[in-house]
Amino acid sequence: MVERPRDHLMDHEYDGIQEFDNPCPGWWNWLFFGTVVFSVWYFIFFQFSPAAWTNASWYDNTVAESLRQQFAEIGELSPDEATLVQYMNDAEWLTVGAGVYKTQCAKCHGPDASGDVGPNLTDDLYKNVQTVEDIATVVADGANNNAMPSLKALLHPNEIVLVSAYVASLRGQNLPGVGVEGEVAIDPWPELPADAQPSETPTE
Ligand code: HEC
Repeated sequence: MVERPRDHLMDHEYDGIQEFDNPCPGWWNWLFFGTVVFSVWYFIFFQFSPAAWTNASWYDNTVAESLRQQFAEIGELSPDEATLVQYMNDAEWLTVGAGVYKTQCAKCHGPDASGDVGPNLTDDLYKNVQTVEDIATVVADGANNNAMPSLKALLHPNEIVLVSAYVASLRGQNLPGVGVEGEVAIDPWPELPADAQPSETPTE
């Protein structure tokens, strides 16, 4: 270290005010240079690197991770009759289905599912649905040239099962609402078997 005389007075004076000649401390300078170097790295990384993340990709990963955690308990559900009927009667998981309904379906079928752009889902009249599994098929693959969009690319398979179970559970409220041409009354959904066990049917 170079010995510097401390508190060396500079030889100007303004209105009786004098100034010491104290350089910025070393740590301050390094911090400053550090931010300059970091900014170069930051610019190059976030503008050009394939490893950079965006708010959107970070959000998608967070959602996917939270779904993985949430669904760790039930494995991967298959959209068969037994599973749908079971989750139609499972209040806790129905709230997850209701959440999916609210974000993905309410805009077309109405917040109470009585119909809007898409038909009423609370009555016994259906066009593309004869069995409870058909609901999951319609959600996954869409219907009527995508007037009802295919959502399998957007939703986790368990979300499809849970939202379908939720929609099935709304039947019987018979809210007055919008129908669709070609609807007919269909048979009631199957009952939950009396000895029903929580089904864990991982499909891997
Ligand atoms: C972009 C608007 C739109 C969205 C979003 C949408 N639907 Fe639909 N849905 C429709 C339309 C329109 C139909 C009628 C298709 C037809 O005429 O065959 C339909 C039909 C259906 C049917 C069959 C009804 C019947 O009578 O055959 C079900 C079940 C259904 N939707 C459930 C859902 C669920 C569950 C979601 C959310 C996961 C959803 N829909 C999201 C527009 C939508």
